Amino acid sequence: AQDRRESLFIVTNWAGKFFMETLWDTEDGRTIGLNYFRERGYRDDIIKKFELGYSPEAWTALYDRAKAEGHKDEFLEATGLIIRKDDGGSVYDRFRGRVLFPIHNLTGRILGFGGRTLKTDKKTPKYVNSPESEVYHKSDVLYGLYFAKKPILDADNCYLVEGYADVLSMHQAGVENVVSSSGTSLTHGQIRLISRYTKNVTILYDGDEAGIKASLRGTDMLLEEGLNVKVLLFPDGNDPDSYVQKFGSTAFKAYVAEHQQDFIFYKTHILLRDAGNDPIKRAEVIHDVVASIALIPDEIKVSVFIRECSGLLDIQERALITELNKIRLARH
Ligand code: GTP
Ligand code: MN
Ligand code: MN
Ligand code: MN
Ligand code: MN
Repeated sequence: AQDRRESLFIVTNWAGKFFMETLWDTEDGRTIGLNYFRERGYRDDIIKKFELGYSPEAWTALYDRAKAEGHKDEFLEATGLIIRKDDGGSVYDRFRGRVLFPIHNLTGRILGFGGRTLKTDKKTPKYVNSPESEVYHKSDVLYGLYFAKKPILDADNCYLVEGYADVLSMHQAGVENVVSSSGTSLTHGQIRLISRYTKNVTILYDGDEAGIKASLRGTDMLLEEGLNVKVLLFPDGNDPDSYVQKFGSTAFKAYVAEHQQDFIFYKTHILLRDAGNDPIKRAEVIHDVVASIALIPDEIKVSVFIRECSGLLDIQERALITELNKIRLARH
């Protein structure tokens, strides 16, 4: 079994080199892929550091090269690099005409890829990703963690973003303690990974409807694990990547420093804003906020939040504590 895992690693890491060579050393790679990354504002040193690549348009470019170099169908298929048609006979490359973000494990080996289309039509999926495999378990991987490990320890904080592009642009801006869950909601495994390095997480989600929803959803597990959670949304539909690229790294850092907010306060504000003056809705807000506070394992933090939220919600601490105890009882 160990041999088989090793064989899969050999294939994914070989593919990483193939995509990188295609990006830097072929005509299409340079004019299409490299040009795309440069147009997005990524510097060459960042493109190299993250081992970004490009997959040729042809149906079997990777497959043909792999066979020529002696790689087995079995391993190419098990890592999802090739797809076998339903007829069982013919195969084709999963990634075609896409720019590629390799996904590394904690020691820097490539487990799989995220591939972004360069097309702008609505039909083509924006990202195609490697499937789950014996070496790639999505729920236990955070994009960028290999490069962020030491910066997270040094800063004693981890920024959590939605996408690959956000990780790259933040690194380029000199903010290297950043990882992405790649568009899926956080898992316990990913949170445990982060908490090996720090107990402080700052969520930087996209300033769109989806980002706001995700910022409220993904957080309960972080609180349960005892992490300190801050949140920040970017204005006007921006994400960290677009904000850095438009306004520069100094403005980005200033925006983050000024707008990050404790999650409990952030949630209170967002929910209160949506509830307006409706007393029933306001009562629901109180319940929702206290439900989040009730997840925090540290009693001292709990009392601090109860006191602060009593002010924000304009309701007596006693009432919040009664609610807190009710929620705790119901959970046991
Ligand atoms: P850019 O447009 O390249 O800046 O991407 P983004 O990272 O801003 O994308 P978005 O905010 O739409 O989505 C966040 C993350 O969700 C992406 O980085 C992907 O990991 C994932 N994602 C987005 N679109 C798709 C998709 O069509 N399929 C899959 N499987 N994942 C996606
Ligand atoms: Mn988004
Ligand atoms: Mn849980
Ligand atoms: Mn983006
Ligand atoms: Mn985005």
